[in-house]
Amino acid sequence: MLKARARLAGALILGAALALPLVASAQAPASPPVPTTAPTRDAGNVPVAPQVAAPKPAAGSTAVPGWNNPPAWDSASERPQYASVPGIDTNRLIQGAGREWREFRNGPVTRLGGWMLVGVLAIILVLYLWKGTIRLHGPPTGRLIERFNAVERASHWVVAISFVFLALSGIVILWGKHIILPWLGYGGFSWLTVLSKNIHNFVGPLFIFSIVVMFLIYVKDNFFAPGDGAWLARAGGMLSGNEMPSGRFNAGEKLWFWIGLVILGTVISVTGLILDFPNWNQGRQAMQQANSIHVIAAVFFIALGLGHAYMGTLMVAGAWRAMKDGYVDETWAKEHHSLWYEDVKAGRRPEKIMTGTAQPAPGDD
Ligand code: HEM
Repeated sequence: MLKARARLAGALILGAALALPLVASAQAPASPPVPTTAPTRDAGNVPVAPQVAAPKPAAGSTAVPGWNNPPAWDSASERPQYASVPGIDTNRLIQGAGREWREFRNGPVTRLGGWMLVGVLAIILVLYLWKGTIRLHGPPTGRLIERFNAVERASHWVVAISFVFLALSGIVILWGKHIILPWLGYGGFSWLTVLSKNIHNFVGPLFIFSIVVMFLIYVKDNFFAPGDGAWLARAGGMLSGNEMPSGRFNAGEKLWFWIGLVILGTVISVTGLILDFPNWNQGRQAMQQANSIHVIAAVFFIALGLGHAYMGTLMVAGAWRAMKDGYVDETWAKEHHSLWYEDVKAGRRPEKIMTGTAQPAPGDD
């Protein structure tokens, strides 16, 4: 009996609980319609913004008229303010050094850097028209000498391809608005720049990895040796046609290794990582400085890279093949790297000598 009453009470309570929302909704006034525009004059106590005309951009400025343009910011304070978000610079709305950095980057760096690269291309063109391609003096023997093994070539190709991607995307980011925007238009250029920025951000770390691997593989043959000073003093005799003796790499190539791969590679990698990872809590000024150093290093790196690519393709016949399938003709080795050739012949080096049918040539034991 007691149990039946308890069950009845429970059922009544449950029923009341379920019915409550229905009753409440029936008694509630109809909800107001969702406003289609933000409340303005009828919004009770909300103060109405004074109707002040937006400031006009400075004469000659390309900014769109409105509040969010440079002249309107001039009156804002550069002093640190209270900010509840911890971190470097989070309490500073206007950072004065940013203006100096922007003027430096958009002024001398863009202008001089751009003209420097145009100058390098012009020198290469003049050199090519004047000297043409340096061909072998003697006839090729048909015996092939291994110049780069598969691992050496793969590492060189990864560096070269990532370098080209970084250089092209960096050129779009820095000079694009001067040389590409005028003929591509805003829509296309915006698309290209976003693509370039993402390519640059992701290929950067791959490039760093590839230059470390390349350094480890190639460093053993890039230490300076007696005779390198004389080679440099006469530019290796390349222009006179009487090339001076050199080992596996000549002094010019060794300079490219140390100045390009090691010094510029390190500078560009460290500054690139500072730009790639702003979440490392570096301030804006550190990133501006990193950017300036990065671009200056990039201009020199691209200039030297252009020279290197020219020598390896159009300038010295037969060099390209060493990158393609790893081999050079015996005459090429004798004329361009005579000390290395002697070492290979004498068996003091690991590189292989092959005939056209890939058999050891007579005398090669
Ligand atoms: C061959 C090597 C490289 C070249 C030639 C190069 C070139 C450039 C150039 C010209 C810019 C444009 C700077 C500007 O507009 O102010 C740039 C920006 C940048 N670089 Fe590099 N760079 C190279 C390697 C790297 C590496 C290794 C990294 C990272 C690990 C990197 C990360 C960046 C970042 C994050 C930016 C800023 C991109 C942006 O504005 O959003 N770069 N680089």
